[in-house]
Amino acid sequence: MIGVYDSGVGGLSVWKELRAAMPAEDFCYVSDGAYCPYGPKDPAFVVDRAMAVSRFLISQGAEVVVVACNTATAAAISTLRSSFAIPFVGMEPALKPAALRSQSGVVGVLATAGTFKGRLYLNTLARFSGRVKVIEQVGTGLVELVERGEVAGPEAESLVGRYVRPMLEAGADHIVLGCTHYPFLTGTIARIVDGRAAIVNPAPAVARQAQRVLADLRERTGKKQPAGKPGLSTFFSTGEDTVLRQLVRQIAGPQADSYLYHSLYII
Ligand code: DGL
Repeated sequence: MIGVYDSGVGGLSVWKELRAAMPAEDFCYVSDGAYCPYGPKDPAFVVDRAMAVSRFLISQGAEVVVVACNTATAAAISTLRSSFAIPFVGMEPALKPAALRSQSGVVGVLATAGTFKGRLYLNTLARFSGRVKVIEQVGTGLVELVERGEVAGPEAESLVGRYVRPMLEAGADHIVLGCTHYPFLTGTIARIVDGRAAIVNPAPAVARQAQRVLADLRERTGKKQPAGKPGLSTFFSTGEDTVLRQLVRQIAGPQADSYLYHSLYII
């Protein structure tokens, strides 16, 4: 079973790609909505949450955990890897591919405050900041919009416009979505971008990486990959789960009715 974890519903944008890449696998998803957003919080707090949720996912039988949250990856991935025996796959804003492909030499990155402070991101930035100009923007309020299910409409339009227009005006030809909540705003972002820049979502590449990690693990342990019938997904929420259920339904269609949904209390 593959564990997937985010501060809220954002990680469903990664689960969508994982499920498409590995349809026969079982997934266990934790939305830590009671503590969302993570972005502005103290990294030590985010580490505590990531530890508690990972412990829970492992107790449910996770063979690998995908930390489908850039902020939690930035704060906690090295602690998680040194604390547990199973492999962890993390998220990182896709600055590298955007910088390599950029023709204009300007790349915009939209992420949370916590993600911009992460060591992985800062290392990538140091590597590519000679090659491209990087415009960083904290997407304050965007996670909350997605959590409320308000991915389109005047408020989304105005907030996304305020963050993305200055990137376009500065000549950005790639806009990196550095938070797993933001792919749900792609319609609104695309309307504002209007073909002037590529919108970069790293979720498909992360799903391929998770697939490789799992295949390696099973080869080493002699465990078989499941085949045949579609896998089961189980969703645990520490907060309210109305929007989560709506998004799961939007992604999985009628199969969403065969999935399991639970409330979760972990301290
Ligand atoms: N989906 C998380 C991320 O990728 C959201 C962060 C938050 O909770 O602020 O960073």
